[in-house]
Amino acid sequence: MLPLRPWESPEITSWRRLPMHAVDRRPGSIGLDGTWRFQLLPAPDAPLADHWSTLEVPGVWTMQDAGASDPPHYTNVTMPWPHHPPASPAANPTGVHERDIDIPADWAGRRIVLQVGAAESVLIVEVDGQAVGIGKDSHLASEFDLTGVVRPGERSTLRLTVVKWSDSSHIEDQDQWWHGGITRSVLLYTTDPLHLADVAVRAGRDGALRVDCQVRPAGGALPPGWFVSGELEGWGELAQDTAFDAGMRADERVSEFLGEARLSATVTGVRPWSAETPHLYRLTVRLHRADGTVADRSRHRIGFRDVEIRGRDLLVNGERVFIRGVNRHDFHPLTGRTLTVEEMRADLATVKRFGFNAVRTSHYPNDPALLDLADELGLYVVDEADIESHDHAHEIADDPRYLPAFVDRVSRMALRDGNHPSVVVWSLGNESDYGANHDAAAGWLRRHDPTRPLQYEGAAKTDWSSTRIASDIVCPMYASLDEIVAHARSGTQTKPLILCEYSHAMGNSNGTLADHWAAIETTPGLQGGFIWELWDHGILQRLSDGRPAGRAGAGAYADGVAGEGHRWAYGGDFGDTPNDGAFCADGLLFPDRTPKPAMYEHRELAAPVRLSYDGRTVTVHNHQHFRDLSWLTAQWLLSCEDGDEVTAPAALPDLPPGGCAELPVPPGLTAALPADGGETWLTLRVTTAGDETWATRGTEICTPQIRLRERETVPFGTTPARGRVEVDDDGLLLHPLLTAPPVLNLWRAPTDNDLLGGAADLWRELGLDTLVRKPLSVSREGATVSVRSAYDTGAGPVVHEQVLNPVPDGLLIEERVVLPDGLSDVARVGSVFETVAGLDRIEWYGHGPWESYPDRCSAPVGRYGAGVDALFTPYLRPQESGGRHGVRGFTLRPADGGPGLAIRLDSPRQVAVGRYRDRDLADAAHHDELVSRPCPVVRIDAAHRGLGTASCGPDTLPPYLVGAGTYTWSWVLRSL
Ligand code: GAL
Ligand code: MG
Repeated sequence: MLPLRPWESPEITSWRRLPMHAVDRRPGSIGLDGTWRFQLLPAPDAPLADHWSTLEVPGVWTMQDAGASDPPHYTNVTMPWPHHPPASPAANPTGVHERDIDIPADWAGRRIVLQVGAAESVLIVEVDGQAVGIGKDSHLASEFDLTGVVRPGERSTLRLTVVKWSDSSHIEDQDQWWHGGITRSVLLYTTDPLHLADVAVRAGRDGALRVDCQVRPAGGALPPGWFVSGELEGWGELAQDTAFDAGMRADERVSEFLGEARLSATVTGVRPWSAETPHLYRLTVRLHRADGTVADRSRHRIGFRDVEIRGRDLLVNGERVFIRGVNRHDFHPLTGRTLTVEEMRADLATVKRFGFNAVRTSHYPNDPALLDLADELGLYVVDEADIESHDHAHEIADDPRYLPAFVDRVSRMALRDGNHPSVVVWSLGNESDYGANHDAAAGWLRRHDPTRPLQYEGAAKTDWSSTRIASDIVCPMYASLDEIVAHARSGTQTKPLILCEYSHAMGNSNGTLADHWAAIETTPGLQGGFIWELWDHGILQRLSDGRPAGRAGAGAYADGVAGEGHRWAYGGDFGDTPNDGAFCADGLLFPDRTPKPAMYEHRELAAPVRLSYDGRTVTVHNHQHFRDLSWLTAQWLLSCEDGDEVTAPAALPDLPPGGCAELPVPPGLTAALPADGGETWLTLRVTTAGDETWATRGTEICTPQIRLRERETVPFGTTPARGRVEVDDDGLLLHPLLTAPPVLNLWRAPTDNDLLGGAADLWRELGLDTLVRKPLSVSREGATVSVRSAYDTGAGPVVHEQVLNPVPDGLLIEERVVLPDGLSDVARVGSVFETVAGLDRIEWYGHGPWESYPDRCSAPVGRYGAGVDALFTPYLRPQESGGRHGVRGFTLRPADGGPGLAIRLDSPRQVAVGRYRDRDLADAAHHDELVSRPCPVVRIDAAHRGLGTASCGPDTLPPYLVGAGTYTWSWVLRSL
């Protein structure tokens, strides 16, 4: 009999579920993925209908047509219904999945197991109408013994009933879409009745290898005489460690009674595993019957490595490694949560290519394939248990009814993942307050796995110096840079500080990442963090019927943009209420995996190769912990403001990790430098010398740069030239290349940070988004036209002056504005105008090629060109986008190179050229609402506010704010 209403009983974590283990049973199994019969019931106790539809498994019903009545729903903290734990609503979508299974005749006499990869949130298993078991814990597999339930050579009906809402939903309240269904593969496997129930590997960098095996009989006692053996690739045979249970009488041997056995060896000459050097060894463990025949076999890829905390440092193989991490959910824009192994591989390869070396599996154990890939590609993993009770955190942390679930979830994660070298830290979960249930789970973990530290943000939240047991690491989220630096310098720091979340990547964001890394790399006690997060969780939505496009939408997007007839949906777009809008679009990658500019920023900050220059010598630094530079190749690139780019091969020296050496610049290169070429930059373009598992040969890894020659500030010649400046009666410039004259601009289309951090409200209250120009005076003196205008703001009038002069190379525009004290935080101070249509290609000298802003500008300075459309970054909710920092000058011409215009700037300025006015962007909720304007909109900013990360976390730092005072800027406009 099924326990009564298991979806309302937190004490029931499972029923007849097999213990979790680390034996990979995928090889040789029978996959049950595919099209299943399906019914969506309004509640778990509703009667079945006669009619079945179909559903793809794995696959949540919320993303498929059969689940049309129950679309995806996005909330962050708030539970989607008001019931207090452990209750759930009576209206509770329940998916009944059914299919026939044919059991091979040659499985007769063997043990038969069903594995359901993951199901949310309660899984009820029946075979031929007979109850088999129950599983909770939505992001780990559940296994059930079907031996004797199914009959070899015969067909049975397997029914998986998945109840969407339950007591478990209260501890699975992560910030992501709510779905219902089966999210990972379903399979059947068979073993000999005498089988390996678990294999636990420990392998240190000194070569000490220990393999603990648990052996189980099908039932009753273990047959006498069994033993285990193993083989380690490249080393040889491992034999059972009989000393392990020596000292006991044969008849009370632990191994005989519990089925415990150990293999151990000291492997000489091992190549240690690290994220930089992910050396793996194949280990095969065999279980033998008394006659030596093999009853069972388990294959592993293991890595030899140490992780420990010494003082306030987390060490991997004795090294204090920087943790350049990112938070990862299981997310896919077409399926919701289900990813193929190839998709996961491609994703992790991207993560590696952009300089990350760590992943936190926020906020639940990710697909098991992800850890195989992390082992293989080289990523440190903080493996997090599926516990987040955010909305009812305080009630649940000490609620004894949830105690079993806490221990169950943490222990099952550790039992599944303990053999992965990539897993370096366990996490007890996320945003669940801190209570006795955490300490219970931490206690289990410490006893079970003394080889890894554990962390829990909630345990270290209020007092970073506390010695509370449930976190070995201080892992705050969104702490300010000042706070973490102060803690590291306080003398009271006792634990490593690694931010579990920082630099919230919502929209146009990740400002001050460079400031963070400058502090982390120079402050002992700070070791890194995990950016929030990898994905924008935008679901591809068909505009025709508002449904998720599903797998059929494959290819209906490109370069981050949802194609014709589609959009990226966020909270509320499926009619889901309550919802948290675009807060789920907060990743470094677009839903289709296209990297955002912030990814490139991160890549540069993580550069394994750095340059420094003392005015005479260029020094190259190896910034890695374990690798030399032989996997890299490099090329010099010399670029100056007024000359062509010159390249030359660079010879990277043989440098140990952490080492540095002079890097001679080929004399031919500097000889090519024009004597009066202006500002000059030397860039080292570093690429992979050969294929890496995560990058093909020639992949750009970083572009460190030094400035060889400063820009001379040559005042613009004011030598009057012949010609006349035309302005209208109000003093607005009339110019054949402009369709809208330059006027003052103090606003930007609010970024998500501006909106959620409050700056956008302030700007609206001050009227900066609706500035109206009032001409004050227009005067002419010789060829010079002086125009004064005023703009009313909530902080008083802002007076703007333009002095227009014909100069030998065009039209000089000198601008000046005084912001009153009440304007202490504006988006920008600059000019905005529009050009004639058809100037669709831009070339600029400044930071690039990717988008950059004052507090996110590690892009190298150089000469770049692009189509105007390509400058724009399609952040899910339209907002300020497409800026380029430090632009010294640019040209705009038709794509075919016809006549256009050139603009030279007095100083490096923030420039944005695009297809939309700021108001167009601000008024749109999705891209399909935007209408591209034929006449490019050009903004030149004397000052531009940093981006910060205020949608969740600190705003930009004071130096990047734009406040009251006098601003002057000038530029020369010339026809080409
Ligand atoms: C954190 C939380 C994440 C996510 C993020 C904001 O507080 O752990 O799950 O909600 O904030 O995007
Ligand atoms: Mg949360």
